[in-house]
Amino acid sequence: MSRTLVAITGASSGIGAIFARRLAAEHDLLLIARRKDRLEQLANELTNAYRTQVEILPADLSVEADLQSLAERMEQEPQLALLINNAGFGTKGRFWEAALEGQEQMHRLHVMAAMRLTHAALRNMVPRDVGGIINVASVSAFVRSPGTTSYAATKSWMTAFTEGLYLELQGIHSNLVVQALCPGFTYSEFHDTMAVSRYRLAGAAFWMSAEEVVDASLEGLRKRKLFVIPGWRYRLLAGIFSKLPVRMRLAAEAAGGRARLKDVPAAKALGK
Ligand SMILES: NC(=O)c1ccc[n+]([C@@H]2O[C@H](COP(=O)([O-])OP(=O)(O)OC[C@H]3O[C@@H](n4cnc5c(N)ncnc54)[C@H](OP(=O)(O)O)[C@@H]3O)[C@@H](O)[C@H]2O)c1
Repeated sequence: MSRTLVAITGASSGIGAIFARRLAAEHDLLLIARRKDRLEQLANELTNAYRTQVEILPADLSVEADLQSLAERMEQEPQLALLINNAGFGTKGRFWEAALEGQEQMHRLHVMAAMRLTHAALRNMVPRDVGGIINVASVSAFVRSPGTTSYAATKSWMTAFTEGLYLELQGIHSNLVVQALCPGFTYSEFHDTMAVSRYRLAGAAFWMSAEEVVDASLEGLRKRKLFVIPGWRYRLLAGIFSKLPVRMRLAAEAAGGRARLKDVPAAKALGK
């Protein structure tokens, strides 16, 4: 009997690669990211360890043609059991000072790609009444700060999107599970790509391993939890911030962003 298939975007490093390692024993995998060599390495490791079928699909999900062919695949894959929309990245600096291209790419990746792949996957899974979607959002959906404008906005979109799906699936008494995974600071390549210093962002107690994040997500999936915020500190923070009066929340968010923007001097004149 053929095994169920899990598709993971952003599988070449960090949280996505750990999802692949945790799920390889029980599922076949479709691993998606741009870096082919990294996907190949992981696929070799997992096929040797688990005799699982691992297919790699090098793709840039912010590019229409790549996204289109992947969405078609999601819609047609007969054994698709779980889609993990995990690919993502952050940018540094104030919104208007950061290059527009990076901001647009982030919206294409966090919003358009997640939306298109989810649409395709649900058209496949809802009629079969099996499966699930994990959307990797962030605690930034609840706690924003200067320097994360597009990031927090797109991750907030992701939690709202997942909540909407939850309501619609509940409305038809579906067996499908949807989850918005909202990690806080996590050791991965994320902050290296952004070239930001980890210790300046938060103390060691606030940093979690990608394994801790993925294990919390998979436990949440078994319990059919809509929101998974790994780590008690982040659950507390998200809970407090969602209850604070707006002015207090903004003051706390502004204070939190100071460290993030410390090495990004304000450019009031843009040289035009
Ligand atoms: N690390 C944190 O502190 C943290 C906190 C909260 C939420 N998150 C979220 O967790 C998710 C995973 O991030 P991570 O921490 O594991 O960081 P990471 O190690 O940098 O992994 C990001 C993954 O996304 C892929 N990716 C980026 N742009 C892509 C594109 N255009 N097309 C296809 N794949 C792309 C990267 O692969 P390629 O470069 O090979 O394409 C990589 O596999 C992201 O959505 C991030 O926003 C991270």
